[in-house]
Amino acid sequence: MDIAFLTCPGTHPGSPNRRADAYEHDVQVAAIRPELEARGHRLVEIDWRSPVAAFDGMPLVLVGTPWDYQDSEAEFLARLDALEAAGHLVCNSAATVRWNARKTYLRDLAECDVATIPTRWVEQPTTSDIAAAMEAFGCDTVVAKRQVGAGAEGQSIHRKASLDPDWSMAHPAMLQPFLPQIQTDGEYSFLFVDGAFSHVLCKRPASGDYRVQSIYGGSEEPYTPSDRDIAAALTAVTAIDHRPLYARIDMVRGHDGGLLLMEAELIEPFLYPAQGPLLGAMMADAIARRLEALVAPAT
Ligand SMILES: Nc1ncnc2c1ncn2[C@@H]1O[C@H](COP(=O)(O)OP(=O)(O)OP(=O)(O)O)[C@@H](O)[C@H]1O
Ligand SMILES: [Mg+2]
Repeated sequence: MDIAFLTCPGTHPGSPNRRADAYEHDVQVAAIRPELEARGHRLVEIDWRSPVAAFDGMPLVLVGTPWDYQDSEAEFLARLDALEAAGHLVCNSAATVRWNARKTYLRDLAECDVATIPTRWVEQPTTSDIAAAMEAFGCDTVVAKRQVGAGAEGQSIHRKASLDPDWSMAHPAMLQPFLPQIQTDGEYSFLFVDGAFSHVLCKRPASGDYRVQSIYGGSEEPYTPSDRDIAAALTAVTAIDHRPLYARIDMVRGHDGGLLLMEAELIEPFLYPAQGPLLGAMMADAIARRLEALVAPAT
């Protein structure tokens, strides 16, 4: 069967305006495509803005690399809804994508006993909110992030000794204590396919920075997790409703040595296939299982 893999102009093969990091799209597709072909299926890259009719004959739609969805979020969500309404199985589902697009999902997971970073949710924070958060967390450094956003955009770090009285943020925000372990241990990305653990890697910031993203000089290295680490990531992934086809669980070490959830990436994360040789096969098996369930729904 044909499996749709959603792209955007920045990632679509042959597109005149491909992004410099579109090679990540190629790596991800190269990991999944041959495994699907070995199981008698075909991966079809298709721009997410294509009309619903263009998806005819593709029962399953993978939310692959629609990396520009944040600029047109309502349109994107409406397209996923329309695909589902037309009978396509969208993975991860429109409901999961809608939930995951706002970091308030972390609050839901915390309520399900997932260990998360302590967070204050503030609509438009000013310096007095930062000072109050320092007081509440008992810390000297606070990170302010947007509730909707990626790539650390709009993020800022605040130190007690040098607070800017004029600072404010015009977006709904989340305030967290700065966890210095991000610089000593790094951030761990655990990859799960259909709830099963695939692999993990460690991302480290460049010296002098605290953001692990490659655009800020962050780098990746292999990591061998303890059973306790895997159990912490598993707790997070199993707390997510409607088991996602793929999930990247990003975690950072807390003061007691246990891992805390930084983010559950369920929309279009890079799955680091180079570090997980089984990832493509696991994805293809999970897709095949879902296709079988479509043909013979459980009674
Ligand atoms: N509380 C914190 N303590 C220390 N570092 C943090 C904290 N929160 C965020 N960071 C750093 O900032 C980076 C970006 O934060 P986060 O992942 O929450 O936001 P994002 O904008 O969704 O980024 P992306 O989608 O690229 O992962 C993290 O990967 C980490 O390096
Ligand atoms: Mg992140």
